[in-house]
Amino acid sequence: MGMLSPSMMCAQIDELRTYLRAFEKNGIEYLHIDVMDGCFVPNLMLGTDYVKQLRKLTNIPLDVHLMIVEPEKKIPWFDFQPGEYVAVHYESTKEWRKCLEMVRATGAKALATINPPTPVSVLEGVIDVIDGVLVMTVNPGFAGQKAVPETIQKIADTRELLKKHGKGDLPIEVDGNCSFEMAPKMREKGADIFVCGSSSVFTKAMPLDEAIAKFRECVK
Ligand code: DX5
Ligand code: ZN
Repeated sequence: MGMLSPSMMCAQIDELRTYLRAFEKNGIEYLHIDVMDGCFVPNLMLGTDYVKQLRKLTNIPLDVHLMIVEPEKKIPWFDFQPGEYVAVHYESTKEWRKCLEMVRATGAKALATINPPTPVSVLEGVIDVIDGVLVMTVNPGFAGQKAVPETIQKIADTRELLKKHGKGDLPIEVDGNCSFEMAPKMREKGADIFVCGSSSVFTKAMPLDEAIAKFRECVK
């Protein structure tokens, strides 16, 4: 069964509590928080205060996606908690392994994160210090983009690489254009956790509960 991690940057601030209650009622597994610094990606989004305040509003564990430069200096700012996922980009630091170890030292789970152009082979260097992989299916920075076609096969390639190292049971999260149409293809290639954004859970085409139920059908 695939797990859902709705992208909270897609949630209008005046509807936040409504979304949280609906997510709790529907057993949503994680909340995806896109932290953007305007340097690593050309956008500014959600920060340390948002993360800390959101923890007080719900018990759903956070899935924090760090799209920031020098994460090694900023990871302590978030007070990460056991049970949370923290995604650190290969492309964002010269100290990727150290960052993943820093995340684990907080008790949180470390997601090695790779952008569309980055080969899955880079995972070889950190496979012993991760709790999962985040395969970006879009170039990060904005919601509403279309998936980069080549990234769908990368999901299967990632699973193969994990298996080769005896880590075949680690979760693979996918982020970007996890639509009702694309999600079954991503699931079929081995994705476990789906960042649901503008093209699924936050769609305006149907009520929220209906969109969640429909997406769960897509990733059974
Ligand atoms: C993009 C973010 C994604 C985005 C997903 O940089 O990492 O989490 O919010 O939004 P959609 O599903 O619309 O691509
Ligand atoms: Zn994200």
